[in-house]
Amino acid sequence: MSSRESKYSLQNDTKERERLDLQHAYIKHGFNGNFAAPVDQILRSGARVLDIGCGSGIWILELAEEYPNSHFIGIDMAPVVLKDKQPDNVEFITHNVLHGLPFEDNSFDYVFARFLGAGYTKSQWKEIAIPEYTRIAKSTGWVELMECDIVLKCNSKDNSKEVDLINKALVDLCDATNLYFNIAGEVKGFLEEGNRYNNINCLEKRLPVGPMGETVADMGVKDFQEIWKLFKTPIIPLMQVSEEEYDAIYESAIQYLKTIGAKWVFSRAWGQKV
Ligand SMILES: C[S@@+](CC[C@H](N)C(=O)[O-])C[C@H]1O[C@@H](n2cnc3c(N)ncnc32)[C@H](O)[C@@H]1O
Repeated sequence: MSSRESKYSLQNDTKERERLDLQHAYIKHGFNGNFAAPVDQILRSGARVLDIGCGSGIWILELAEEYPNSHFIGIDMAPVVLKDKQPDNVEFITHNVLHGLPFEDNSFDYVFARFLGAGYTKSQWKEIAIPEYTRIAKSTGWVELMECDIVLKCNSKDNSKEVDLINKALVDLCDATNLYFNIAGEVKGFLEEGNRYNNINCLEKRLPVGPMGETVADMGVKDFQEIWKLFKTPIIPLMQVSEEEYDAIYESAIQYLKTIGAKWVFSRAWGQKV
């Protein structure tokens, strides 16, 4: 496999776009907004913004409406399918980031990339993705990375055996594919390496997945109901179970989330290019 080949394996169908929209609402609620870098003022004045791996496009569409003076570009290797007319200050480009970003050096005021953990291998992150993000950001422009861990932390002292089984299989899948599913703890280090950024900050949060009596916790359960289905095919052989056995483990794990719950670790790091 060439070092520029993508190993991303999740679907890009209507169901997945709906999951990404739900996940977006969950994150926005949990982090109280759509971004953490101090970019509100530049977005108001008029900035050039790139969203890398933009998925359904929901992040861009919300920002484009809020900041009409700014210009937004979303890039994803899968085409973005919009329900409504594309706003004038938005462009979408279909392109594999691992082939290099199709933009000039120093051409964006703000570069945002969220949930690319399953998108690049460990070496692709360091050798292609981060250097490309840095290259296209303007000097003093901001780069913000947001990632999460795939492993959930159970709320009770006695972990759920079934949640643990799925957690372990997902870690095994990371190792087998060399992808970076448990990547929350890495994002700050990506920006620190090579002294290319000033004013680096990192915000870590553990959001509820389960019965906290809040809408946000319910959204977390709905998201994991889909995530654990998305990974069913690759993790069954690693768990050495039949499809029926996986389904039973899955049902018990979901029941645990609904009744006792877990925490989902996210982190976002942002820095200003030197
Ligand atoms: C988990 S989704 C996250 C989408 C969006 N950033 C969000 O937070 O809702 C990951 C997205 O990254 C895209 N992606 C993965 N690898 C990519 C690559 N090498 N180049 C471009 N897009 C990629 C996928 O097609 C998918 O839409």
